[in-house]
Amino acid sequence: MDLIVFNTKNEANVYVAGLIVQEINKNAFLTLGLATGETPKGIYNDLIKRYRENKVSFKNITTFNLDEYIGLHPESPDSYHFYMQEKLFNHIDCPKENIHIPNGCAEDLNNECENYEKLIEESGGIELQLLGIGINGHIGFNEPGTAFDTHTHITKLAPSTIEANTPLLVEEKKLPSHALSMGLKTIRQAKKIILVAFGKQKADAIQRLLNGEVSEGFPASILKRHSDIKIVIDSELNNELK
Ligand code: F6R
Repeated sequence: MDLIVFNTKNEANVYVAGLIVQEINKNAFLTLGLATGETPKGIYNDLIKRYRENKVSFKNITTFNLDEYIGLHPESPDSYHFYMQEKLFNHIDCPKENIHIPNGCAEDLNNECENYEKLIEESGGIELQLLGIGINGHIGFNEPGTAFDTHTHITKLAPSTIEANTPLLVEEKKLPSHALSMGLKTIRQAKKIILVAFGKQKADAIQRLLNGEVSEGFPASILKRHSDIKIVIDSELNNELK
């Protein structure tokens, strides 16, 4: 695992966006795994900027998002569908049909999970996966206790995730209790991974990822078994590491 520290979040965002653009410019047909949440917002802004400057085109890439809340329609401002449209896809040239986000309103959710996994497989697998991390070590919505060999599945959000994400709600009164998420095996199969974490509140999770043991009690620890992973953090977080 490569740990890369930047003075500011902005510098980190520019670096990560640069890596993504580099991969797309090497392979216009890249299969890219994407995350939502607070962390990647600046990265997406920088990708949009580079697109507007004609430094990159997304027209042939295929994307797969990590997760979606169960029960939220794509039009809900709190859904990850809405987030991705607003923060990235409305502003770039990635064709609709190349964008994949699990459908948390599917009639048959188990079938949706199986199909999602199949689509990833058929696309040849994720070549570059962008990740954030929860304070409890979740990646995607794989909460502590999730088996390392899971594929896309239905997951119950941990109390700390509900606490962290409830204040971000725009319209919904209550955060859904469950989500669909790529599994830990799905994520681990990505050829390259970039995990980004900012700020003091993520220090314990990164400390444990760097120095702790591999255990299903701390989902991100599976990444220690990955051979091409970069962990990108800011100095605020780095200053808290022991
Ligand atoms: C989001 C996701 C989550 C977040 C994590 C950190 O698609 O998969 O694992 O990356 O909860 O969220 P933020 O960035 O809001 O701190």
